[in-house]
Amino acid sequence: MVDPGRLYHYEGVLFCKNLFPSSSLDAVKKFTVRKDDVYIVTYPKSGSTWTQEITSLIRGSDDLEETDKLPLRMRIPLLEFVDLERKLRFYKLLESVASPRYIKSHLPKRLLPQGMFHIKPKVIYVARNPKDVLISYYEFKLHPWGWEEFFNNFLKGNVVHGCWFENVTYWWQHRNDDNVLFLFYEDMKYDLKGSVRKISNFLDKPLDENTLDEITRRSSFDVMKHNKNANFRVTFGEKAELLRIGKTGAWRNRLTPVESQAIDETFNARLAKIGLKFEY
Ligand code: PPS
Repeated sequence: MVDPGRLYHYEGVLFCKNLFPSSSLDAVKKFTVRKDDVYIVTYPKSGSTWTQEITSLIRGSDDLEETDKLPLRMRIPLLEFVDLERKLRFYKLLESVASPRYIKSHLPKRLLPQGMFHIKPKVIYVARNPKDVLISYYEFKLHPWGWEEFFNNFLKGNVVHGCWFENVTYWWQHRNDDNVLFLFYEDMKYDLKGSVRKISNFLDKPLDENTLDEITRRSSFDVMKHNKNANFRVTFGEKAELLRIGKTGAWRNRLTPVESQAIDETFNARLAKIGLKFEY
């Protein structure tokens, strides 16, 4: 659980001071973007770790075993994160990394490196339905609240990294840009191999069938859950459950009909306006 004293707002978006201090967020906005960077952007709890694993394996497909030996956060760092254990500021580390850099972020468009929007590096965006995101985020405990307070704050967009709808909207509206690959978590669940193939083609790294099968195997939920370099236990401790359930529709066992309806009422009309529909 987060100490409530550590929460603060940065340009109207909630963050934890120790993990995402304003000095980092200031620097990230001015971060020097390179044309050959690859960004994985998602709202929290939408499948970014999964996409990190797939993408890093595609990049390191010459030696998958060796690639999987390095913790994911070092293969593809979270741009805005301060790694307390190693005292690393990832945006600083990335300044000296050779191209092509692979970078992850959960920031909304207005807080991302502004160079991304004129230099136009490749961006893989992953969206997930808000009901499963809400529960996954509640369980992650990056907040100081009980269920009801978290639920209400999520609907208001007042949780760490801000509003789910704002985050998804920009990238959905830019889903057809040449430099953007827009994916749904739900589609990745339905057809993992097809999604790996889509990502590899987008990265201009087509793979042979055997490599495609092996990356699909390595990035399946059960294999990743037991891979200490992919399950983030090295970062968050042995009890951390980043890979918790890994299913679509798990919300059905958790939300009451009234809660489910409140989520629909908060987002459905706005989603319909931008033509975005989720599989629940
Ligand atoms: S974070 O902490 O914000 O970066 O979380 P993120 O990685 O974006 O999302 C975590 C959820 O993604 C699920 N996950 C997977 N699902 C299916 N297959 C694979 N391989 C996989 N890897 C991660 C993870 O279990 C979280 O969802 P929940 O619903 O909590 O299980």
